[in-house]
Amino acid sequence: MLASALAAFPGTFISGFLQVISLLGLLLLLYKAVQYYLHRQWLLKCLQEFPSTPSHWLFGNHLKDQDLQQTLLWVEKFPSACSRWFWGNKAHAVIYDPDYMKVILGRSDPKPVHSYSFFAPWIGYGLLILEGKKWSQHRKMLTPAFHYDSLKPYVGIMVDSVHVMLDKWEQFIVHDCPLEIYQHISLMTLEIIMKCAFSYQGSVQLDENVRSYSEAVQELTERIYSRMRNAFHQSNIIYNLSSNGRSFYRACQVAHEYTDRMISMRKAQLQNEEELENVQKKRLLDFLDILLFAQTEDGKSLSDEDLRAEVDTFMFEGHDTTASGISWILYALATNPEHQQRCREEVQNVLGDGTSVTWNHLSQMPYTTMCIKEALRLYPPVPAIGRELSTPVTFPDGRSLPKGFLITLSLYGLHHNPRVWPNPEVFDPSRFAPDAARHKYAFLPFSGGRRNCIGKQFAMSELKVAVALTLLRFELLSDPTRVPVLKTRTVLKSKNGIYLCLKKLK
Ligand code: HEM
Repeated sequence: MLASALAAFPGTFISGFLQVISLLGLLLLLYKAVQYYLHRQWLLKCLQEFPSTPSHWLFGNHLKDQDLQQTLLWVEKFPSACSRWFWGNKAHAVIYDPDYMKVILGRSDPKPVHSYSFFAPWIGYGLLILEGKKWSQHRKMLTPAFHYDSLKPYVGIMVDSVHVMLDKWEQFIVHDCPLEIYQHISLMTLEIIMKCAFSYQGSVQLDENVRSYSEAVQELTERIYSRMRNAFHQSNIIYNLSSNGRSFYRACQVAHEYTDRMISMRKAQLQNEEELENVQKKRLLDFLDILLFAQTEDGKSLSDEDLRAEVDTFMFEGHDTTASGISWILYALATNPEHQQRCREEVQNVLGDGTSVTWNHLSQMPYTTMCIKEALRLYPPVPAIGRELSTPVTFPDGRSLPKGFLITLSLYGLHHNPRVWPNPEVFDPSRFAPDAARHKYAFLPFSGGRRNCIGKQFAMSELKVAVALTLLRFELLSDPTRVPVLKTRTVLKSKNGIYLCLKKLK
């Protein structure tokens, strides 16, 4: 019947069909516009008590990669918290006050599912983005890998890797002054995490193939940053078809090839009976061995997908954050030579020429530790984290937000808040003197509460080893013609690199 109708009136049928399609399209557009409008009205109502700088109704607070500079203005102008519009119907409340942090970190709100899911094709559902029961199981399973007794022997590995980097620096500075330090430090921290957590036995810093993994990580963090700020790239379908999406997936593949190789290498080593016996005799296992020997409640091994997610998560979290931390600490010491010299004298007293460094030495450098903390305050390696309210919240000053609202906890804003830290831009290690009083939630480079950083002690040991050994070998000088411009790419980086002049000490 349809065929005979088509044959009789083909033109009428096609135009009727097109009319129906256009009408449906129009209705869908109208529905989306109403949905957009209503959501925007809801956000405006919720954020009434959280003022901010003017924002465009469609483009929000268009910050052009000036997030941190803008945060400083907000912190100055709007006490405790403000609102931030990404575009017309996406806004967060940004908080930077210790009492506000205490409230949020004391609850168990999940991380914002939508934006953290942008990491999932790369690092999978590992500890960083898992939620609920599976998160508690994995956290419990992995906590022993970060026990003090496990960390102690890692100091030797850290020392060796730092020496390899410093040896390279000695050769580079003959030709390259100033030297861009971030890329070298990033390779060094990658080597440390691979050796400590994944029983890797080669040299990463001298291996050219590793660069591809390192470059993939840079690309992935850039892509995720721009996706979070692009209204059109929120949908997976559109993003996957875009050229940005395709580059993102190519970089994921490079990163996965690398981590897969590491897992297979360790599995192959464990086929050797002697190695297997060694591992079984150990009271505390390396991170990867914990995962390989782990059993879920029903006695099954961890699935390949879960195993890979944890390996990808720890490879990323375990090296990019510490690379940022060490680079900015060295930069802070270069720009504050009197504190640098005081640290050097302390380190020389404790370590002599640095040939033997042990776990116990690391607690005997109080002034250096104060300087490290002050640098982590000024340059927090993770500038912001997020939460999605699972129930309404009321802050101590009476302002409240409803269930479902998205919160950015700006650690950068908190650490630069003049109501919390007088003269916040001044490098003043005495803020961390043993007798200095401060709010428990005023300094949070490793976050706080139940989702705090599992690698905090590991990271602090690594920062101390790297800083101490560098100060024993070089005097650090900043280059006033190359002042780093801060940018945030999940971790804190510099748009124009971090350049230092290094002078070999006699
Ligand atoms: C200076 C170095 C480091 C800093 C500043 C840092 C900071 C942080 C912060 C702020 C969080 C909270 C993230 C959130 O709530 O979304 C976090 C979580 C985490 N960090 Fe670190 N981190 C550092 C080093 C490390 C290292 C060395 C490792 C591993 C060896 C690591 C592994 C993790 C993991 C797995 C989580 C997720 C924990 C969970 O949710 O249970 N981090 N880190």
